[in-house]
Amino acid sequence: MNVLILGGGGREHTFCWKLSQSPLCNQMYVAPGNAGTASIAQNLAIDPMDFEAVKAWVKRANIELVVVGPEAPLVAGIHDYFKESSDMNHVTVIGPEKAAAQLEGSKEFAKKFMQRHNIPTAQYASFTAKTLSEGKAFLEKMQPPYVLKADGLAAGKGVLILDNLSHAQAELESMLLEEKFGSASNKVVIEEFLSGIELSAFVLTDGESALTLPMAKDYKRIGEGDKGLNTGGMGAISPVPFVTPEFEKKINERIIQPTITGLKKDGIPYQGFVFIGLIKVGDDPFVIEYNVRMGDPETEVVLPRVENDLMDLFLAVKSKNLHQKTIKEAQETACTVMAVSGGYPEAYEKGKIIQGLNKKSEAIVFHAGTQLKEKDILTNGGRVLSVTGRGNNMNDALKQSYQRLAEIDFEGMYFRQDIGFDL
Ligand code: AMP
Ligand code: GLY
Repeated sequence: MNVLILGGGGREHTFCWKLSQSPLCNQMYVAPGNAGTASIAQNLAIDPMDFEAVKAWVKRANIELVVVGPEAPLVAGIHDYFKESSDMNHVTVIGPEKAAAQLEGSKEFAKKFMQRHNIPTAQYASFTAKTLSEGKAFLEKMQPPYVLKADGLAAGKGVLILDNLSHAQAELESMLLEEKFGSASNKVVIEEFLSGIELSAFVLTDGESALTLPMAKDYKRIGEGDKGLNTGGMGAISPVPFVTPEFEKKINERIIQPTITGLKKDGIPYQGFVFIGLIKVGDDPFVIEYNVRMGDPETEVVLPRVENDLMDLFLAVKSKNLHQKTIKEAQETACTVMAVSGGYPEAYEKGKIIQGLNKKSEAIVFHAGTQLKEKDILTNGGRVLSVTGRGNNMNDALKQSYQRLAEIDFEGMYFRQDIGFDL
């Protein structure tokens, strides 16, 4: 079967790496891809948001499976577009339809969904420009820190956590009246602050049953000790040492199962990955957010620990036979460390030559913002590459990543030296 992967980051390189191991996978294409995917598949100069161009290539290359990496095409309805095209509805899209993608596309939708299905999450209320004064009054009744979330997609930047009441009120006003996060903040969800340690659960579902993939923990801040600005993710570890079988049971019973049955009860079809951002408060799991895709860089540690043929799992999603499958999780620990461009997540330069990529090593170098130009591989984004190491324990896995990173260099390269510090 011919496959098209949409996206061009480390997550998509990892999908490509994993699917290339499957005898069920024939030709593989990635749009737009990066220098890493170019070495195992054919990159296409197609924007995943240009549905017509995607469709034209799917037709031309006889593609039967489309794996959607990022959330934007899902929220914009790429799955619906394929389903509604009479000549395309034989194509399987891994990634939910627009209605279900609202779980990530609207914080308020996600909150109402959780409330309706008794899924533990922070208490909340939502406000618009019309109800700004009620929003300010609501903040007065809350305890700091104050959590303000833009309702819509804001590229991971739409959440503010503030200690000071008047500052929080001013930010609320700026989100609602001045479109601080564009139209994403036309509505703002104000939430109770939950204190605990975060982790992520990943589920693959065909809408009927769900398979839980290995859990992971990511490191979002740019600086060591989890300080500084938020990024897309600077590293990740799987498994998560504090997830005991007992805690995992709670996640499954209180969160994963009610999420899948909730979607069914609401009549919302879902085919693809659900990424559930969790926080452990005391001994109990709460949902921080839903994403309708895999995480990045979590995918870079989750998929290397999945021993199944990923194509076989995708085909089971297509035929709604996922209940017949089980995930074979490798016992090893995987960690990944992201190397980023100097200045990221603020302004940074692109086009720097990356050295040291050819050396042989047990570690896997997943490309993110890279580009092949003649014989050179150049930086082409903020997050440049993610090095995954594996071992019998976290320290061995980290050692493998850091040893490989020491051989790689580009001008301005930065990575956190403390991934896993809190575990
Ligand atoms: P989100 O985009 O919803 O994942 O939020 C971004 C980050 O903000 C999360 O990873 C958490 O670290 C933090 N966060 C979000 N909601 C809460 C909350 N209710 N309590 C504490 N921290 C939160
Ligand atoms: N690493 C977090 C995300 O993919 O949203």
